[in-house]
Amino acid sequence: MKKKTWNGRWIALLALITVVLAGCGNAEISTLQPAGQVGKDQFRLLMIASSIMLFVIFVVVIIYTIALVRFRRSKVGEDFVPKQVEGSHTLELVWTIIPVILVSILAVVTVYYTYKLGDVSAMDAVDEDGDPEHLVVNVTAKLYWWEFEYPNEDVVTSQELVVPVGEKVYFNLISSDVKHSFWIPSVGGKLDTNVENVNKFYLTFDEESNGLKDGVFYGKCAELCGPSHALMDFKVKAVDRDTFDDWIASMQQTDEQSPVVDEQGEQVFAESCIGCHATSGVGVSNGIGESNTMGPNLATFGDRNRIAGYLPHEKEKLKEWVRDTEAHKPGNKMPSFTKEQISDEELDALADYLFGLKVEDDQETKSDR
Ligand code: CUA
Repeated sequence: MKKKTWNGRWIALLALITVVLAGCGNAEISTLQPAGQVGKDQFRLLMIASSIMLFVIFVVVIIYTIALVRFRRSKVGEDFVPKQVEGSHTLELVWTIIPVILVSILAVVTVYYTYKLGDVSAMDAVDEDGDPEHLVVNVTAKLYWWEFEYPNEDVVTSQELVVPVGEKVYFNLISSDVKHSFWIPSVGGKLDTNVENVNKFYLTFDEESNGLKDGVFYGKCAELCGPSHALMDFKVKAVDRDTFDDWIASMQQTDEQSPVVDEQGEQVFAESCIGCHATSGVGVSNGIGESNTMGPNLATFGDRNRIAGYLPHEKEKLKEWVRDTEAHKPGNKMPSFTKEQISDEELDALADYLFGLKVEDDQETKSDR
């Protein structure tokens, strides 16, 4: 009777775990739902390694249980001496050869995928006209935000990476201050960004991101880098090639022309913000080093999904952020602005101005200027 109750409890527990685990993994951020070839390869490797390890655990638990049940003192008697197997060649061969086979399988697939996923030999390939064959993005990690430079297109942006689907995108990864790690869970990674060397790898984005919950893939910093490490997020827009080309063209047109949606806002920006933030997406990375005080490029601010990488993309949140950056992102390098420095009215105007900085869905307005 008692046994039955326990069986019922186990079944209930298993059912509960199944339900809870079934909730794991949103497509925009789950390694378990890979949306690119690299992510799929990494997932396959994970499954092979996990299967081998689970097999070992399973076999050991079975043997252990048999030994525990069959060879109890109460069953075999106080004076029982088990069969002595010390020095048995057969047994020693068995428990040497089986692990060697398992580890060999692990080694072969791991080495294969390590070389496959680390192959950046085609990164700098050019066609007969001398044009680069592949898209290259230089990623610079900073406390606590991300800069994305498209060196061959002369475009730079921050916090939102825009990439075409269905082709290899090559990345040069570097850090400007401490070690961070570049990770787009659904697509692939992670790879450290170091100060002293450039790490390179590639990713492919097989699915457009506009069908996802927020229309973007989520990117994370995967190396503990300071008090706001957990807030060091970025987003990825994976779009078709044509949309990507349009985006690049729009970014290249942001040079020298800042959208004048609010003249007072632009004035405030010119007085208080422009020392650290650019509104033109044309140019190169603003470099590395402790002395570099440059903040994120804001050319696409109005298109973004989040404020400061993680706050909802709302004017109210922007205002809260500007008033007290430290409360929202401890240890970040942006100063807060008091009402003496920027009045409430000026801050409203500034928010209107920043939300008007767009390169997407704003083509008519732009061509009017
Ligand atoms: Cu940057 Cu963690």
